[in-house]
Amino acid sequence: MGNIKIIVLISGRGSNLKAIAEECKKKRTPAEIIAIISNNEFASGLKINGKFKKIVIKGKKKTFEKELQTNLIKLKPDLICLAGFMKILSPFIIKKWKNKIINVHPSLLPSFKGLDTHKRALETGVKISGCTIHFVNESLDEGPIIAQGAITIKKNMSSVDLQKEILKLEHIIYPKVIHLFSKKKILVKQNKVFINDKNKEINKFIKNV
Ligand code: GRF
Repeated sequence: MGNIKIIVLISGRGSNLKAIAEECKKKRTPAEIIAIISNNEFASGLKINGKFKKIVIKGKKKTFEKELQTNLIKLKPDLICLAGFMKILSPFIIKKWKNKIINVHPSLLPSFKGLDTHKRALETGVKISGCTIHFVNESLDEGPIIAQGAITIKKNMSSVDLQKEILKLEHIIYPKVIHLFSKKKILVKQNKVFINDKNKEINKFIKNV
């Protein structure tokens, strides 16, 4: 089985990109990042080293998306990972890459879609929060959920603390999803995700928190 080709879309720091790149180096994961694409030329994630192409696409939504689609069609990825990518993609892109775009969101979806997630979780007083890896569909943060990890919210936790704790989880769970996807173990049927995860890697982790 050859490597699956991944493109990672970023807008900033790229710590999830780094975690995905580390996973792709492992023998057990037949995947390679062929390109990273950023809408932000100053994204520090662009400094991360790897054999991948680094593409910066500037411009307003229409120009950006047209160029993005051209690049995607040219590079033919098997998987597109959004990792701190701060733009909402239009339906024409999502339709073309149906069930091939995944995102990481720093809350337990369907709670706290959108921005300012950590602050809103704390203000609401939820007792647990976490992260969600999901397929991207036409509705913001609503696509089929692949995996989630949860943490308990501790007393006096600030939104920065919460962000740090959740980010640690993202760095564990996103690579696991990449692994399972590369082994063709993630299936979507009628908008629901089924994972053939004999080692129960994802579930085991969720139970242990
Ligand atoms: C992460 O918290 C992710 O959940 C959110 O944006 C942040 C990106 O961080 N979508 P990084 O750029 O991967 O470090």
